[in-house]
Amino acid sequence: MTTPPDLAGISPEALDRRTLLHPLTHVANYAAGNSPHRIVEAGSGVRVTDSRGRSVIDGFSGLYCVNVGYGRQELVDAMTEQARTLAFYHVFAGATHPPAIALGARLLGLAGPSMKRVFFGLSGSDANETQVKLSWYYNNIRGRPAKKKIIARRRAYHGSTVMSGSLTGIPLYHDGFDLPFGLVRHTTAPDPFWAPELDPAAFAQRCADDLDALIRAEGPDTVGAFIAEPMIGTGGIVPPPPGYWRAIQEVLRAHDVLLILDEVITGFGRVGAMFGKDLWGITPDLVTLAKGLTSGYAPLSAVLVGERVWDVLQAGAATHGIFGHGFTYSAHPISAAVALANLDLIEKEGLAENARTVGEYLRAGLTDRLGSHPLVGEIRGTGMLAAVEFVAPGPPRRHLPKTAQFSSRVAALCLEEGVLARPIPFGDIVGLAPPLVLTREDADLIVAMVGRAVDRAAAEL
Ligand SMILES: Cc1ncc(COP(=O)(O)O)c(C=O)c1O
Repeated sequence: MTTPPDLAGISPEALDRRTLLHPLTHVANYAAGNSPHRIVEAGSGVRVTDSRGRSVIDGFSGLYCVNVGYGRQELVDAMTEQARTLAFYHVFAGATHPPAIALGARLLGLAGPSMKRVFFGLSGSDANETQVKLSWYYNNIRGRPAKKKIIARRRAYHGSTVMSGSLTGIPLYHDGFDLPFGLVRHTTAPDPFWAPELDPAAFAQRCADDLDALIRAEGPDTVGAFIAEPMIGTGGIVPPPPGYWRAIQEVLRAHDVLLILDEVITGFGRVGAMFGKDLWGITPDLVTLAKGLTSGYAPLSAVLVGERVWDVLQAGAATHGIFGHGFTYSAHPISAAVALANLDLIEKEGLAENARTVGEYLRAGLTDRLGSHPLVGEIRGTGMLAAVEFVAPGPPRRHLPKTAQFSSRVAALCLEEGVLARPIPFGDIVGLAPPLVLTREDADLIVAMVGRAVDRAAAEL
């Protein structure tokens, strides 16, 4: 055994607390044993089982990713077969392999004729790094070296690497890291809930006007790209207000600014359609995909390169030479094989449609159970995404006191009741994003569990 001698023989929990640097964790509290821990050992369908043998509904699909549910034999078989045949080969300098070829063609087929090439990475974060580099490269080739700023939105989540973390519009991911914000700007998040004085369509126009004003203030010749999720995800699960995407795309076109659409959460059926762009009539120049691409069974991301960018890249090769970007594990064969089997399941089982109908059913159930609760301000979502936003009893619309940490308490009680839900710290929001295979019976269970959790948390207030 290579375990350090002072760690030998301690419990798995204690070992974890003394060895891992966990993402998004209070490191000192965790190391001292003062913040919660959970060892998840197995998953099947929509449920996960922990080391104490307790099984709960995973109302968050891991991290919005296990779209086809846990324990799918088809994916296990695809991984095993690919590992046996060719566990690794790269795609540098013209090398390639069958799963990469098949997956590239499959993704372009799904995305439609405006997308011309696919670049593979491993995570949503690295895919968004690629997007930024592509937008810079594109404007360098076009002889516009100053057109480099990227505008993202407040409350956006685009990853936590150096550049993708800068694009992310959530201060928690910035604090203390000296991220290079020089070329990044943030604009209004399209959440009309806290602007009740405007109707949602007017609020959407205000978002577009804010973007237009920001581009003009910075100078259109300095703004290269706008990056956004089709709907707010990690920032609170908020569908775009009516007219938002039409108005935003008009502004981008007027200023010759690329649109990078981050479909890391929304892709592969999550919103009740294959992609958010199909649902909301968005025509991006570049698309970011990850998570549901493999349902989380293996790491893989993809950047779809649209015609406008591809044409410039192709023409620019004459002067710029080799496209000097890529990762050892770009288009990893095992991940690509898993993605192909995963797409088979999503299509064969009609999971986008199931997300649409069962997701709607879930939100209707939540609305029946909680819609008139004095602490519930809004129940919203799209496809298999739902959020309950809590407010102080009103009117007027007011936040609950921060000290109550109400959504965290609700999420903790949801887990006690038997469903994993996620507290979202923009106001008080609890989010749900169950696997797309969710049945109506399990949706009923989730509604009952969340309902009881809210009642219990409210009684404690
Ligand atoms: C919209 C969006 N983009 C990018 C990312 C980053 O993906 P990853 O965690 O795989 O780097 C996430 C992760 O949650 C996301 O939700």
